[in-house]
Amino acid sequence: YVISDRLPGCAKGAGKGLSRADFPPRIRKLLWIPDSDTAVEGSGTQDRCRRKEREKMSMTLSQAKEKVEKYGQEHVLKYYEELSQEEKTNLLAQIESADMSILDSCRHQEDLLKRGVITPLASMQLPEIEANREAFTAVGTEAIRAGRVGAVLLAGGMGTRLGSDDPKGVYNVGITRELYIFECLVHNLMDVVRQTGTWLHLFVMTSDKNNDKTVSFLKEHAYFGYKEEYVHFFMQKMAVATDYNGKIYLEGKGKLASSPNGNGGWFISLKDAGLLDLVHREGIQWLNVFAVDNVLQRIADPCFIGATIQKNCVVGAKVVRKVTPDEKVGAVCLEDGRPSIVEYYDMTEELMEAKDENGEPSYNFGVILNYLFSVAELERVLELSLPLHLVEKKIPYLDETGSLVKPEAANGYKYENLVLDMIHQMESCLPFEVVREKEFAPIKNKTGVDSVESARKLLQENGVEL
Ligand code: UTP
Repeated sequence: YVISDRLPGCAKGAGKGLSRADFPPRIRKLLWIPDSDTAVEGSGTQDRCRRKEREKMSMTLSQAKEKVEKYGQEHVLKYYEELSQEEKTNLLAQIESADMSILDSCRHQEDLLKRGVITPLASMQLPEIEANREAFTAVGTEAIRAGRVGAVLLAGGMGTRLGSDDPKGVYNVGITRELYIFECLVHNLMDVVRQTGTWLHLFVMTSDKNNDKTVSFLKEHAYFGYKEEYVHFFMQKMAVATDYNGKIYLEGKGKLASSPNGNGGWFISLKDAGLLDLVHREGIQWLNVFAVDNVLQRIADPCFIGATIQKNCVVGAKVVRKVTPDEKVGAVCLEDGRPSIVEYYDMTEELMEAKDENGEPSYNFGVILNYLFSVAELERVLELSLPLHLVEKKIPYLDETGSLVKPEAANGYKYENLVLDMIHQMESCLPFEVVREKEFAPIKNKTGVDSVESARKLLQENGVEL
């Protein structure tokens, strides 16, 4: 099946209880937890950011006790007296910044399963795209040449299903030679740079867990030929991780378990890192957001950009035709009259059987996490909150005896916002069909469906030497 960008690693529809409707409270800002134990700090933007955040922390032990009692999380101070002064300061800082109000949500999931009225949203299909390819491409090329388009690589995920400790982008998919995931993506973007004669700004979102390795890897490899001054890193926020009862896990005696807060906070994080100023300064009006793990993806595709502009839409979404009506992929639709994405587990029999006037399934196109957003529209919705998703994951934790356990199976929740929920905030959306075999080779797992194996096969079929 196709892993949608809806629920990463989600087992049996975890998070399905949290719909966008009536989510109380609409949580926007998840928290920042500095990972100072592992991070090597220097003078870069991200390091300054980490230090600044920590310096801001000033919670006393009694204030921390008051907060954890309020949320039933007293256990996180269990080892406090054993910690060094620095560890104590770090733990208090984590407690201060942790948004514990989100934790109650895991006890109310079932109550919150509410969706609006789902109706079809027509996609622009291949024949129409082919008929207009030249015109669309001309419009998109002009926008790129005028510097109005930037690209945003979402690379903050943990890639737990792949099972590597390194950032996913540094994974080598080559067989007889080295070919890294990041390299594939940069090569794909370079096609457009060559085609248009224009460098595009590339914003790379990392997280506290993988930032340093990502930055140093790309630097060491000279950005695989991309111009350094066009590459900008920024870090997303972190959120605490809990057991199924909403109790925060400890991953060290002085460290709350945490994970990146989902890919939905990318625009706020980009802004918080000061990069929106650059976007304005450079006159960037469109941002093409894409996932790290689709090695065939076309980035800043002039035809896609041109079609979205020509159709006066504020967001474009690349979609693939579903293989079967019940395929596990988020399908584009309207929800209460606005663009949206209906998750596979929300697809009722009725929706699966619905047909359009040509006898085609009405919800036949799934998203592949490649969106073109209007910057003005992103700024318009900046203050709006996104629904929170609870995602079942394997979370390393300290057991009763204080020993670190790396679980074999999912043992709790991570709390995430997702980029696809931003589609519902947009005024208009163009779903734009692409040929799955040419543009969709996601790497989620090592073997099997959406894996290194399947992506290698697709890369070879598309003429990439491995
Ligand atoms: P996935 O949904 O596949 O999540 O991410 P993941 O964390 O990479 O992998 P698993 O589920 O742990 O195996 C889809 C895209 O969103 C990015 C990922 O890097 C990938 O490009 N992402 C995900 C973020 O940037 N931040 C996040 O917090 C989560």
